[in-house]
Amino acid sequence: MAGKTLNYVCQECGASSPKWSGRCDGCGEWNTLVEEAAPESAPKGLGRKKGRKIQFQGLKGETEHPPRQVSGIKEFDRVTGGGMVAGSTLLVGGDPGIGKSTLLMQVAAAVSKTQTPVYISGEEAIDQLRLRADRLDVAGATVALAAATSVRDIVSSLDDAGGPDLVIIDSIQTMYVDNLDSAPGTVAQVRTSAQELIRLAKRRGFALILVGHVTKEGQIAGPRILEHMVDTVLYFEGDRSHQFRILRSVKNRYGPTDEIGVFEMTGKGLAEVANPSALFLADREDEVAGASVFAGMEGSRPLLVEIQSLCTPSSLGTPRRAVVGWDSGRLAMIMAVLETRAGLALGGMDVYMNVAGGLKISEPAADLAVAAALMSSLSGVPMPPGTVVFGEIGLSGEIRAVPQLNARLKEASKLGFNRAVIPTPPRSKTEKSPREGGMLITEVSRVEDLLSLFADGAESAPSAIKQDRKQFRHG
Ligand code: TYD
Ligand code: MG
Repeated sequence: MAGKTLNYVCQECGASSPKWSGRCDGCGEWNTLVEEAAPESAPKGLGRKKGRKIQFQGLKGETEHPPRQVSGIKEFDRVTGGGMVAGSTLLVGGDPGIGKSTLLMQVAAAVSKTQTPVYISGEEAIDQLRLRADRLDVAGATVALAAATSVRDIVSSLDDAGGPDLVIIDSIQTMYVDNLDSAPGTVAQVRTSAQELIRLAKRRGFALILVGHVTKEGQIAGPRILEHMVDTVLYFEGDRSHQFRILRSVKNRYGPTDEIGVFEMTGKGLAEVANPSALFLADREDEVAGASVFAGMEGSRPLLVEIQSLCTPSSLGTPRRAVVGWDSGRLAMIMAVLETRAGLALGGMDVYMNVAGGLKISEPAADLAVAAALMSSLSGVPMPPGTVVFGEIGLSGEIRAVPQLNARLKEASKLGFNRAVIPTPPRSKTEKSPREGGMLITEVSRVEDLLSLFADGAESAPSAIKQDRKQFRHG
């Protein structure tokens, strides 16, 4: 590369610097600078040349809604906001082996009923793709396959009128542009390849799906820039030890975010899960101390999950706190509130918390369900059977209202729950409390109010915990 200036580009954030260093100045990450050829020198400033005048437009005008490509896979269509938009780009990220290629092969096959999809793989050979299609029982679908990695070849092949309606690129990290010197997967290659493909998709009006690998930190590898360049970003997540997978939208220029689609990985590919609450509650046992059922929302869809906790006296100087599926900082906060405001003796306890089924919850509305699970574990008294819980807890112990109360109650009622512990919603004096299908509603305004749920059956609680109960009663 004699004659060319070299540049060092951070593979995390895309910042460039003229000399190598162990730590990136832009994002502070270590060992992320990689040597790349500097881009052709850009002209300095605008110079004297005048540009054209821009025509400004009003907000109101004749704009048609973009046409949508509905795949027919309902869980996928919901997450994309009602189907992919022609000319737009969708990025699907996820851990290796989670099922991205499987999902997209199924999408391609489903789309092929009405439109023409193209599936380009840079990771697998045609034979492998065919074997997968066989396994998925979609070998009869008309999907055009190719194993290719050169963006120049791909663009030349697709830049035709009457081209495909959907192009799937698996994955963007394997694609390369031949006039860049850096290796595929580097920031410069990923950015340039994506740019070229996105431009082509806009010009030819096809929907483009890019598969993106995820780094160990859980972000799509390559620069964040990639997420800015595309219209929609979906993450395909799941625990490999569990069968179900969640497709989550984190950015969508054409639809809502936080929407999820739930699938189950079977021997014949991904099956849609129409009623995820039933799936997440499938193995639940009623009447077990330390568990509560949280009525949560994922996007526009209610989702019931079980929250389990276990408190045992600790033999360690610093008790253990382990959380799966929820934020550990948030657990620490709730425990502090329970100790200070409700007098619970959690200080000398090892505390374990788990969201059953491997789901990750980020809603603060789960606070109250976590608190209930902790109280139940500590007191040895199970939650009243058929009860769901939700509500946000504030630092002073107050329970705050959460959105979409009725949707949560409706889902709970649909699944046979007949009691709900909910925040006292702000309302005028004459308004009655909400009712859902004859559910018994218990409104709580402070965490202490929850304690009464665990009052009966106290006599059967083991003596060691009874002492704690006394403590938290009088605390
Ligand atoms: P894959 O789609 O190759 O994952 P990714 O593209 O995200 O790396 O799927 C990988 C896993 O899915 C693999 O471990 C096998 C499993 N699988 C099934 O269980 N059933 C199936 O029908 C298929 C096609 C794959
Ligand atoms: Mg793959």
